[in-house]
Amino acid sequence: MTFPKGFIWGAASAAYQTEGAWNADGKGENIWDDFCRTQGSIQNGDTGNTACDGYHRYGQDVHFLKAMNLSAYRFSINWPRILPEGRGSVNEKGLAYYDALVDTLLENGIIPCVTLYHWELPLALQKQGGWLNRETAEAFAEFASVIAKHFNGRVRNYFTLNEPQCFIALGYAQGLHAPGLMLPVHEQLACMHNTLLAHGLSVQALHEGSSAPIKAGLVSTGRLCYPAEDTPENKAAAKEATFALHEDDWLFTHHWCLDAAVFGRYPKDAPPSLRKFDESVPAGDWDIIKKNVDFIGVNIYNGRPVDRMGRDVPACPGFPRTAMKWPVTPEVMRYGPIWLHERYGLPLYIAENGQSCNDRIFLDGGVHDPDRIDFLRRYLRELKKAAQEVPLLGYFHWSLTDNFEWHQGYNERFGLIYVDYPTQRRIPKDSAYWYANTAKTNGEDI
Ligand code: NOJ
Repeated sequence: MTFPKGFIWGAASAAYQTEGAWNADGKGENIWDDFCRTQGSIQNGDTGNTACDGYHRYGQDVHFLKAMNLSAYRFSINWPRILPEGRGSVNEKGLAYYDALVDTLLENGIIPCVTLYHWELPLALQKQGGWLNRETAEAFAEFASVIAKHFNGRVRNYFTLNEPQCFIALGYAQGLHAPGLMLPVHEQLACMHNTLLAHGLSVQALHEGSSAPIKAGLVSTGRLCYPAEDTPENKAAAKEATFALHEDDWLFTHHWCLDAAVFGRYPKDAPPSLRKFDESVPAGDWDIIKKNVDFIGVNIYNGRPVDRMGRDVPACPGFPRTAMKWPVTPEVMRYGPIWLHERYGLPLYIAENGQSCNDRIFLDGGVHDPDRIDFLRRYLRELKKAAQEVPLLGYFHWSLTDNFEWHQGYNERFGLIYVDYPTQRRIPKDSAYWYANTAKTNGEDI
């Protein structure tokens, strides 16, 4: 049995993690360019200044996508490459880079799927408060409009924001990610609300800016629970635990974000801090935030097994883990999409999934990563089960190449294509060959 007909097999990346060329051709700085300069913020003092040099080597990267039989590439546009000050004058050379990338993808029959915000906030906007400032949402709409008009007819698939849960929690609450802030809760809430405004305004700008039909959605992440035992009671408990909100544990959930974007309100059972904040939200904001989206993108790496009371089931000693020490929990790939579809009724993309491994070049010159292949087989088997129950549009492997893993620098390797950073040589890992066959056979062999 294969995945549904027309299922999209793709790979994903993000601008700051791969492009490098941090100050080339009139690009403005983003918050990561700045954050990486702060001593102690990134492991080993790494930066994305060069990263995978994708800015100059995109041709090779497209070649690998094609060689792997992939039909789509999800990548982000580095906002200040286009609008160096965040809004206002447009940097034509920045657009020229994405022209070249998009055209090369199209020439190779690969669908460009653009993420508008994968955390590359222009530094100029951060200096005016960043996501704490409501005007950032308007600036984002301006950016979306420039992109929609420029790529009209060439780009037809857009992801507005990548993982608001993550960039707010890690960047504005815990200080681990750029811009490195630890704001009080009511300010975290304001950031969160402004990103939702940005999403809504950008969906509108994308539609208004593009005369060709486009599809748009956002990418969410957060807690997903699955039943430790496959019984009706346990399933119900797992779904309930997925959407539970507690005062000290709600920022990393899907539904503060998706309820807002899809239903036009915060969750009815929001914890007190969010309820209180909600009272101050101008009613007109919900018309801005709630826009028809065509799909939901969801990033799934691991989930939490729960018992029939919805309580976490502790992992056994020595439980399977990735190099990054994330648990390997394939079942989340079946239940996560089901819970999200039951709640929102929208088609889904798996916008990211994959694992970090301690990859290296072997004496025979290859990069052998059986653990990644095993991980993918296990997760995709479960996804295949989900695909029988809910509309799944496609799967994007994270990531195409190894890249800069935020505050962990280059310590983590998530790619299908190995990057030897000193030489920038790319080597397809064994998993790349495996994934090529999976895409070719539409997952029949899993
Ligand atoms: C999700 C983020 O979108 C991506 O940028 C990151 O590299 C992966 N998770 C792995 O941590």
